[in-house]
Amino acid sequence: MYQKLLACAESVKKKIDFKPEVGLILGSGLGDYADGIRVVGSVPYHEIEGFPVSTVKGHKGCFVFGYVGETPVVIMQGRVHYYEGYPMSDVVLPTRLMGLLGIKKLVLTNAAGGINPDFKPGDFMMIADHITTGVPSPLIGANLDELGPRFPDMSEVYSKRMREAIRAAAAACGIPIQEGVYVQLTGPNYETPAEVRMCRGWGGDAVGMSTACEAMAARHMGLEVCGISCITNLAAGLSQQQLDHKEVQETADRVSASFKKLVTELIGRI
Ligand code: HPA
Repeated sequence: MYQKLLACAESVKKKIDFKPEVGLILGSGLGDYADGIRVVGSVPYHEIEGFPVSTVKGHKGCFVFGYVGETPVVIMQGRVHYYEGYPMSDVVLPTRLMGLLGIKKLVLTNAAGGINPDFKPGDFMMIADHITTGVPSPLIGANLDELGPRFPDMSEVYSKRMREAIRAAAAACGIPIQEGVYVQLTGPNYETPAEVRMCRGWGGDAVGMSTACEAMAARHMGLEVCGISCITNLAAGLSQQQLDHKEVQETADRVSASFKKLVTELIGRI
């Protein structure tokens, strides 16, 4: 796996000579975020040998390199999900690759279902912590000693410093922000109402199908991590409505301008 990672990193470095400081993974609602930054170059995933390519409709697949303000960034336009059938080690390969390209900080974004009764569709939630009990750890298997320790600490996955930066960025933009615990499940099906009650019982505030595994892989290699969820819908059983991807996409699109503003302000502050 480490050799595969190094090969991917070499293949990207051959295509572009750029050293990003911050990595940004785009979730729903931010899909076109990279169109608004000063782009230096991009590398489609399919040009990177051995790289997992996302199969979800509407998820573009490429790394975009450029500047958000003065900050050199690499943006993942399109992520790989566990439910697509890839092993977790492949799901987090792009995250690790950004680490090998030199990022020190990672900003994660996603769409999620709200399970905290105070949340409503269109809210943003700063991820304070996560629960990954519902998915295999991306660190299972031989440890990549080159990246990090066998038994990494997870007591502060989402950096306190960056959480404060999210609060400050939201305040500066006049965007209200919720805070809470993100629960990652496998998907691709949405949860049953009983599963949502279970997640609430666990201490979760929002549920989704990505992100926490990437955060774990990033922490394993010592990156500083933060995350923001866009609450696109009330989770199953909390409203009369049935869930569908269209509703998720529509809410994400509706608040997309605020989400972009928040992320840009945040990057300037971290
Ligand atoms: N559940 C899981 N993932 C999601 C949801 C949800 O309700 N909304 C957006 N992503």
